Amino acid sequence: MSQQTTRTGTPLTDAARDHLWGHFTRHSVYEPTADGGLGAQVPVIVRGQGHRIWDDRGREYFDGLAGLFTVQVGHGRIELAEAAAEQAAKLAFFPLWSYAHPTGIELAERLAGYAPGDLNRVFFTTGGGEAVESAWKLAKQYFKLTGKPGKTKVISRSIAYHGTPHGALSITGIPSAKAPFEPLVPGALKVPNTGFYRAPEHLRDDEYAFGQWAADRIAEAIEFEGPDTVAAVFLEPVQNSGGCFPPPPGYFERVRQICDEYDVLLVSDETICAFGRIGSMFACDDFDYVPDIITCAKGMSSGYSPIGAMIASERLFEPFRHGTTSFAHGYTFGGHPVSAAVAMANLDVMEAEGLNDRVKNLAPAFRAQLDTLRDLPIVGDVRGAGYFYGIELVKDKETRETFNEAESERLLRGFLSKALFDAGLYCRADDRGDPVVQLAPPLTIGEPEFAEVTGMLRDVLTRASELL
Ligand SMILES: Cc1ncc(COP(=O)(O)O)c(C=O)c1O
Repeated sequence: MSQQTTRTGTPLTDAARDHLWGHFTRHSVYEPTADGGLGAQVPVIVRGQGHRIWDDRGREYFDGLAGLFTVQVGHGRIELAEAAAEQAAKLAFFPLWSYAHPTGIELAERLAGYAPGDLNRVFFTTGGGEAVESAWKLAKQYFKLTGKPGKTKVISRSIAYHGTPHGALSITGIPSAKAPFEPLVPGALKVPNTGFYRAPEHLRDDEYAFGQWAADRIAEAIEFEGPDTVAAVFLEPVQNSGGCFPPPPGYFERVRQICDEYDVLLVSDETICAFGRIGSMFACDDFDYVPDIITCAKGMSSGYSPIGAMIASERLFEPFRHGTTSFAHGYTFGGHPVSAAVAMANLDVMEAEGLNDRVKNLAPAFRAQLDTLRDLPIVGDVRGAGYFYGIELVKDKETRETFNEAESERLLRGFLSKALFDAGLYCRADDRGDPVVQLAPPLTIGEPEFAEVTGMLRDVLTRASELL
């Protein structure tokens, strides 16, 4: 029986259309059209189990995006729901403002244990954007407290997404996401990302040289602005927006050198990449670098309850140990006891089931399946790492010519997003950079599912190729 028929009164989809304000949602598609059409129905997802989700009409979909890069352990885990209920019954809420609660303390200790180097100090938030915001504020205050008050600017990469609070949005490198909210926070500079497929012509055959070139653009930006004015560099281990750009070999090694040379903090924004997405609890371990700050969220609780964190090194906490100094920054719900309890239960599941090793062992097979799609005329590139892949779509494979705005609109919004969903695959078709289809499934899937997802993609992308 469909969920709609169990609800009396207005159907859920109508109520959604009339009252719900979707995030990053183009609402016009749900409105009745001038020629009397009804408009599309808001997809309403009512249930999840493992890597499958169901809508209010009873249709089943493969969750190829783990909700939103989040549900690492899959849907429907009773032990996580029970952890939430138990904690809510014991202590539903208490803030971390001068007080503490056991689940917050235990989770901080556990995250510090996973984090590399001496990143031992955990500042909780409710999500990734707040963690990024917190990291910029910490970087500014840290340098004020240590005699370098001019160090306030930050560097990040073009097309990267780092969240929506004003500071985090300034760090974000997607002009169209920022334009409606200008003026943003000044002093957020952009450098090239590590999209090798679109590397400058003279570097296309040498990934290492490309990585050194891209890292050196950070040094160049610091020099241009003046090292005394730059506080931090924000980088994702694998950049999501633009379609899963992995770091070229040697890239982070060179970035670390540059940051050390200019006394600029390296922030590893692992909102997506942490908690097994690439294969380790923190993806800086996957790429062998130690940042000064990690920002994370999403997979920490597999999304069963919202939580994020900024994890800072001992050096950054040091000035806050003394006198009347404090980090005058916080969130009512940061480190919420229920979310912290859920995160602990989630990490228990990840460890008990060896999900990180699973990702490490099975990622090559996942990648190999997706690589078979390269024979399609529309598939220009397949890239990523772990359980995190992007498939870049092109108009012309030989020349790597991409689609213009109108074509991209027709292809992604007019055809692909709907066709993928109708085919039973929930994933992301995105054109914040060049058009890509992205996959980030729960970490529990294996070989049969790699084939299943690839089959669905082949069917839809074949039809998309025929539209070219
Ligand atoms: C790298 C990165 N940073 C920050 C954010 C913002 O996280 P949130 O939506 O939890 O604020 C995201 C969200 O996808 C992200 O991918």
